[in-house]
Amino acid sequence: MEPFASPDQLDPKLLIFLEEACQSLCSWFSQTEKYGPLPVANEFPDVAPNLCGLSKDELLRDLQLIMSGAYRPSHPGALAHFDPPPLTASIVGDLICAGLNNNLLANELSPSLSKLETQLCFWFSQRLGMPPESGGVAASGGTLSNLMALVIARKQADLQFDPDAVVIASADAHISIPKAINIMGLRPESFIKIPTNEDGQICLDRLHNLFSKLRINRRKCFAVVATAGTTVRGEIDPIKELSEFCLNQGIWFHVDASIGGAFALSKATSHLVKGISCANSVAVNPQKVLGISKASSLLLVANRQTLKSTFGTGIPYLEPLAGDEEHGGEIGLQGTRPGEVLKLWIGLRQLGERGINKLLQESIERRIYLQDKLDNKRFEILTGPLHLLALTPRERYGKINEEWSIKTRNDLLSKNFMLSRPLYQGKYYLKIVLGNPHTKTSHLDKLSELINDSLSHYQ
Ligand SMILES: Cc1ncc(COP(=O)(O)O)c(C=O)c1O
Repeated sequence: MEPFASPDQLDPKLLIFLEEACQSLCSWFSQTEKYGPLPVANEFPDVAPNLCGLSKDELLRDLQLIMSGAYRPSHPGALAHFDPPPLTASIVGDLICAGLNNNLLANELSPSLSKLETQLCFWFSQRLGMPPESGGVAASGGTLSNLMALVIARKQADLQFDPDAVVIASADAHISIPKAINIMGLRPESFIKIPTNEDGQICLDRLHNLFSKLRINRRKCFAVVATAGTTVRGEIDPIKELSEFCLNQGIWFHVDASIGGAFALSKATSHLVKGISCANSVAVNPQKVLGISKASSLLLVANRQTLKSTFGTGIPYLEPLAGDEEHGGEIGLQGTRPGEVLKLWIGLRQLGERGINKLLQESIERRIYLQDKLDNKRFEILTGPLHLLALTPRERYGKINEEWSIKTRNDLLSKNFMLSRPLYQGKYYLKIVLGNPHTKTSHLDKLSELINDSLSHYQ
C-alpha cells in the first residue's frame, strides 16, 4: 500500500484500507453495550515507528488496540461529562476534513472551508440574535474561545498594559477564565469572583457593590463574563440584566455559553439564554451538547472587525486579500488549523431543525425525568434549566459526602453507569449529564434506584 493517495487514479488499496478502518470503527460502536463506558486494562501498541513501515493489517491491529482502550461515549451509561456520542455525519466530516488536509490559516489553502467558517459563524451569530456585523472564528475548545474573547475585550478597552485591570465573573465560572487571566500575564487577583445566589447565579447586587469599590480604588474592568450553563449544575446567569449593566458601564460583556449556547438554536429552548443577543462575545461549544465530534467550539463576536483588529499581524508570506476578506490566521490565536467547521456544518445538516430541537429537548426531558425519580428528601439536588444535575447526601447524614461519592461512583461504574464527582462549594457531588441520546428511561429508572439505595449503608 502506498503511503499517499494517488493523484491520478483511484487506488483500490486505499479504498480497502478505508473500508476496513470504517469496518472496525463500526464494530467498535456495535460492541459498546457489551462493555462499560470505561475500558478494561488492555495491551498498548508500540509508540515508536519501526525501521520499516507497517502493513495495512498491522496498522489496523495497532489502531484496534487504541480503540479497545478508549472511553466509549456511546454507552448509555456514559453520563459523567459533556461528551456525547458523535453524530455519524460529523464522523464522516472529520474523515473528509483529514483527507482534504486544508489549512484555515490562509484562504488559498482552504478556499471552500474558509468560506464555510465565515458563513457558519455568521449563521450561528444570527440564530443567537446578534447584530448583522457579527461573525466568529472556530476554535479547538471553549477554553480557547474564552481566552480569545478576553484578549479582544482587553484590547478594545485599551488596557493591554494595565497590570491592575480586572475581569469579573461568578464564583461558578469555568476554570478557563482564571486560566486565561494567567496566560494574559495578569495576577490571580485580577479575576474577581462574585458569589452566587442559592440558585447558582451571579449575585447582581454584589456586582453593583464591587463596581463602586473598583471606582474608588481606580481599578478598571475590561470584561464581565456571564456563564450560560455552569459546569457543575448547569445554571444560567441573568444574561439580560448583566448585558444592560455592562452597556451602562461601557464594559465588554462576554457570555461563556460553552454549555448553554446550543440551546439558543431551538425555538423551544432559546428563551433559556434570553439576552445573549446583546453580548459583545459568546463562546459556544457544539461538541458538548450537539454531538459534533471534538474539537468544535466557536467564538462569536458582535463586531467581526474586532477579531482582526486584535489578532491581525499581517502575514507577509501570504497573498494579501481584497476587500473585507481575512485570512483565518489573522482572526484568532491559532495559525495553522484544520477545517473544524466541516463536521459542525454537516452534523447540523444531518440533524435538521427538527433533529436539533429533538436532541436539545430530549436531553432536558431526561434530566427532569431523573430528577423526579431521585429522592430529594435524602439528597440535595442542584440543577438549572438545562440537561444536568448534581447531587449529594443532605446534611443530616453528617460529613459523608466524600466517602459516599467515591463509593457510589465506583459501585455505579461496576454497573456501567459513569458519573463524575465534582468538588463544589466544599462538598463532593455526583454529577449526571443527560445529553446522551442512547440513555433511555429504563436506564434512568435503574440509575435512580441505585442512587436512592446508595444511602442505605449510612442509616
Ligand atoms: C462552562 C464551561 N466553559 C468552558 C469550558 C471549557 O471548554 P473546553 O473543555 O472545550 O475547553 C467548559 C468545560 O467543561 C465549561 O463547562
